[in-house]
Amino acid sequence: MSAPRTSPRDPDPRPDGPAADLLRRRIAAELEHGRRRSEGLTVEALDEADLVGQHSPLMSPLVWDLAHVGNYEEQWLLRAAAGQQALRPDIDVLYDAFENPRADRVHLPLLTPREALEYNARVRARVLDTLDRAVFDPADPLVGAGFVYHMVIQHEHQHDETMLATHQLRRGTPVLDDPPPPAAPPPDGPGEVLVEGGPFTMGTSADPWSYDNERPAHTVHVPAFRIATACVTNAAHLEFMADGGYDDPRWWSAAGWEWRTRSGKRAPAFWHRDGDRWLRRRFGRVEPVPPDEPVQHVCFHEAEAHARWAGRRLPTEAEWEKAARHDPATGTVRRHPWGDADPGPHHANLGQRLLRPAPAGAFPGGTAPSGAHQMLGDVWEWTADDFTAYPGFRAFPYREYSEVFFGDGYKVLRGGSWATHPTAARATFRNWDLPIRRQIFSGFRLARDAEAR
Ligand code: AVJ
Ligand code: FE
Repeated sequence: MSAPRTSPRDPDPRPDGPAADLLRRRIAAELEHGRRRSEGLTVEALDEADLVGQHSPLMSPLVWDLAHVGNYEEQWLLRAAAGQQALRPDIDVLYDAFENPRADRVHLPLLTPREALEYNARVRARVLDTLDRAVFDPADPLVGAGFVYHMVIQHEHQHDETMLATHQLRRGTPVLDDPPPPAAPPPDGPGEVLVEGGPFTMGTSADPWSYDNERPAHTVHVPAFRIATACVTNAAHLEFMADGGYDDPRWWSAAGWEWRTRSGKRAPAFWHRDGDRWLRRRFGRVEPVPPDEPVQHVCFHEAEAHARWAGRRLPTEAEWEKAARHDPATGTVRRHPWGDADPGPHHANLGQRLLRPAPAGAFPGGTAPSGAHQMLGDVWEWTADDFTAYPGFRAFPYREYSEVFFGDGYKVLRGGSWATHPTAARATFRNWDLPIRRQIFSGFRLARDAEAR
């Protein structure tokens, strides 16, 4: 509740009333959640050597991510939004992702874990102070509707997911809690659904959490297609492997076969064979590969080859988004497959509650109008498309979030993973990575043209 006004002439010291106050409280709570997770994955989980060390050339030292989220918060919430001077002008260059490739960051004079915590806390105290006085003027594209705060909240959560990928690559004893997966009744219902041809609204113009690459909303005509109600499981991928899929160039694109032969990979990342069974290493624990979970840690090339072997293909981005949010009964689109309600624990496997994807059928409450299950959460889903701009795209508030990656060989992934925070999971959200990357929590779902009836 906002403080009662003392008189009509003595306005609420916090500008623009109870709605803004509610937004302030939501922002403060979400900023705090992000920081709890960042510290849980760093200083609360690992010793100094593990925090400053390089666990893979693909990843930053964890202590880099820790101070980078604070530096990003300072740049956007204190300098850009509130006009403040830099707290530590000397460190900006260290935490600039474009100045320093991930593999080089370990050699920089980074803040120590303790210094990073202190710096982040100084930034955060000032941010909470400016938040109290923030004016959410709808005419202000940066602060209006809370946009820049939402951007910073999501940014920290995105780095928390990246830090989990670093944890997965780290060798050593387990340090993260690993709750058991939910029991999922074997899914009944069809294995794939038909999505009728016709227009739908792709992207968003109004969502105050959306990144520039999700905007603007635009109509896309999508021919009829069929899409699987669940992601490809480990059992199905084992069939592809047993059928020699990794050794048969017929299933692979030229670039995919090049990756396959150069890398020598013949199974998802973190798998190894033990006699006649397959084991996987997951956050330091070795366990049999569970047959009914979505396969994860596969690259785009593996997803594409499996799909071709199965007589299917990967969905386009437009197909994926239409299957996730278009309601044919009303012709409208939803923010999430289940509707516009924020994601709850019964909707989807999000937010690092588990350390793994959940089996198909575990979230009947999250089903899309199309009948597709688990479009959000569990594993990022590779799509067929390159990462490009929507018609009418405008970079905002900085070119380096999305624009510099457009058309540079990046593939789009959709839907978020079990490691994605709910504030960064919606049916319009677009992620991207190189087609050879497998350290991310990536899987895929199959689709095909509808005409073959
Ligand atoms: C959207 C996940 C590809 O990690 O490179 C973090 C997110 N951008 N800091 C990334 C991001 C700037 C981005 N991805
Ligand atoms: Fe970043």
